[in-house]
Amino acid sequence: MYFLDFNLQSYYINANFLSSIMASNNYTWETMDKQILVIDFDSTFVQVEALVELASISLKDTSNKKEILQEIETITNQGVEEKILFSESLRRRIELLSANKTHLDLLIKRLKRKISVSITRNKEFIKEHSENIYIISGGFKEFIVPIVRQFNIKQENVFANTFKFDESGNIIGFDEKNILAHDNGKVALLKTMNLEGDIYVIGDGYTDFQIKKAGLANKFYAFTENIERESILDKADFVTPSFDEFLYLNKLPMAISYPKNRINVLLLENVDPNAFKVFNEEGYNVQIQKSELNEDELLERIKDISILGIRSKTQVTDKILQNAHRLMAVGAFCIGTDQINLGACSNKGIAVFNAPYSNTRSVVEMVLGEIIILMRNIYQQSNQMKQGIWEKSVAGNFEIRGKKLGIVGYGNIGSQLSVLAEALGLDVYYYDIVEKLALGNATLCKSLDELLRKSDIVSVHVDGRTENKNLISDKQFRLMKTGAIFLNASRGFIVDMKPFAKALESGKLKGAAVDVFPEEPKNNSTDFNSELQRFPNVIMTPHIGGSTIEAQKNIADFVSDKIISYVNTGSSFYSVNFPNLQLPELKKAHRLIHIHQNKPGLLAQINSLLANRNINIVGQYLKTNEEIGYVITDIAREYDEGVIKELRKIPNTIKFRILY
Ligand code: NAI
Repeated sequence: MYFLDFNLQSYYINANFLSSIMASNNYTWETMDKQILVIDFDSTFVQVEALVELASISLKDTSNKKEILQEIETITNQGVEEKILFSESLRRRIELLSANKTHLDLLIKRLKRKISVSITRNKEFIKEHSENIYIISGGFKEFIVPIVRQFNIKQENVFANTFKFDESGNIIGFDEKNILAHDNGKVALLKTMNLEGDIYVIGDGYTDFQIKKAGLANKFYAFTENIERESILDKADFVTPSFDEFLYLNKLPMAISYPKNRINVLLLENVDPNAFKVFNEEGYNVQIQKSELNEDELLERIKDISILGIRSKTQVTDKILQNAHRLMAVGAFCIGTDQINLGACSNKGIAVFNAPYSNTRSVVEMVLGEIIILMRNIYQQSNQMKQGIWEKSVAGNFEIRGKKLGIVGYGNIGSQLSVLAEALGLDVYYYDIVEKLALGNATLCKSLDELLRKSDIVSVHVDGRTENKNLISDKQFRLMKTGAIFLNASRGFIVDMKPFAKALESGKLKGAAVDVFPEEPKNNSTDFNSELQRFPNVIMTPHIGGSTIEAQKNIADFVSDKIISYVNTGSSFYSVNFPNLQLPELKKAHRLIHIHQNKPGLLAQINSLLANRNINIVGQYLKTNEEIGYVITDIAREYDEGVIKELRKIPNTIKFRILY
């Protein structure tokens, strides 16, 4: 994405229509003096070192393949970093290879799948400027030419070594007269080439930097998409984590509207490592911090952050948002979003995402386990055993099969519990204030009272709205069957603790499991006190219903996927504060994304503006909530800068951007 930041308002264009954008862009090579781009092959044009790949093919059935591969890699690096003579490194590697022409064919097939991601993404650019692009490599023409040919780069523009074969097609050496087979080969070659114009060198190795060092190139770009070599990072004019970054730095047309490595992600509070992985693989620049940041620290750090990932402790206040000039999205890698000022986010056009369902299954599994444990008195008996008491008895031990489970709150968790409980043979009843479809054979109760009267087991899964305070109190415990089991893994304040303790004391309840409490310690070093601690038939857990490794990973995947989709396509599906729009994939069009204050008439203004310029709308989507309106307009023609300026000026616009 090509992303131009205008304070609050930003727009980006993904140039699937490269040529159309190039036509409207002054920075094309046609309008600049002659530029020459020298690109290295191994670990730059392709993701790998080709000779190492060749070895992994040719040594496939060799018993000490691993050791030889390791040796080849070491020699490769020593050569690239000038620790041994380059010709020496080539000779030793070729000896170790034991490769032939058939292996080369397989290598070419493999390399075609391993072209660097950003090089592939910008294929159109490379094709269009292939006359000015030279591949200069210490690798071999036999595999380089077939790869770069797909990018219209001619054989004459490829400078590399060549193999020597025996009659049976085995590689037995290389042309030692080739200038590139020797130390400083690239420099020596460039001197003979007499290229006219500005020369830009892109590569991952020291030999690439040497061209600049010798005064034969204007700039050297250290390409770090595949490998980062310390030895050149501080010597490079620019470190470019992708080819997009090179194009961006030189104001050249890109296949995407903004180099992804410029999208800064800050993940706080030990967010699951999977989130780092997902954002990192997307090419974003991700910073992580184990703890939360206080307001002053975050005020500073937030300035150049595009995506902020937090859990429950970091407070995203209005003041923080005032400094968040580049912030597009906040990811709450948890369920709740109370820590985020959602209204202020909306007013600044910042989308907030959380993970409402990712730990549902974990809660349900815990509740089911507890139901079985309580019905069989396992918890109490286990504790007795630890005190040396062996009391084998059948009294009070029940199967769960056929027992009536009453679920209060038939939302994500309640309804999933319903399905799994039924599979275990429980007879499910449920009550919800909203009409909910019964899953499986579950029976709807018309009132909470009805549910409480009927159930052998009552499990509460309502949400945390304030009206639910003390939802289960004296009256509700009285309505329950004597010997009922009660579970709460929803919110602590939903249960009135005094009557709860009374019901346990009186034996009204056979047992209980409680995961949430009206007052929970803020951290693991704070003491915990509760009137339930004295009951041996109460299972108490420290709010861990949703805390499993799987749930953490699901949360990380879910939130980061939604944010990436929002950045890449504009889809706001599952956003907490944005009107939810799930958008079709866009083909052969530009997508205009307008976030605005929810005031009437905006759609009409967008459409009349486009109509006046004869721009055809191929798709349009609008959704509003109380605060903001979200309009997506797909247009089927080249965009022009004038219309973008006008669209941005429409009153009540909060943010505007263009995709594709
Ligand atoms: P949800 O919002 O999907 O479902 C809540 C349901 O309760 C809704 O259908 C709603 O209509 C219903 N409801 C609200 N008030 C009610 C009332 N007075 N009587 C009957 N029905 C009522 O929420 P979800 O995801 O199922 O979560 C349920 C609860 O579990 C929430 O309080 C949540 O905070 C808590 N939770 C606890 C976790 C833990 O670690 N223990 C982890 C995840 C969620």
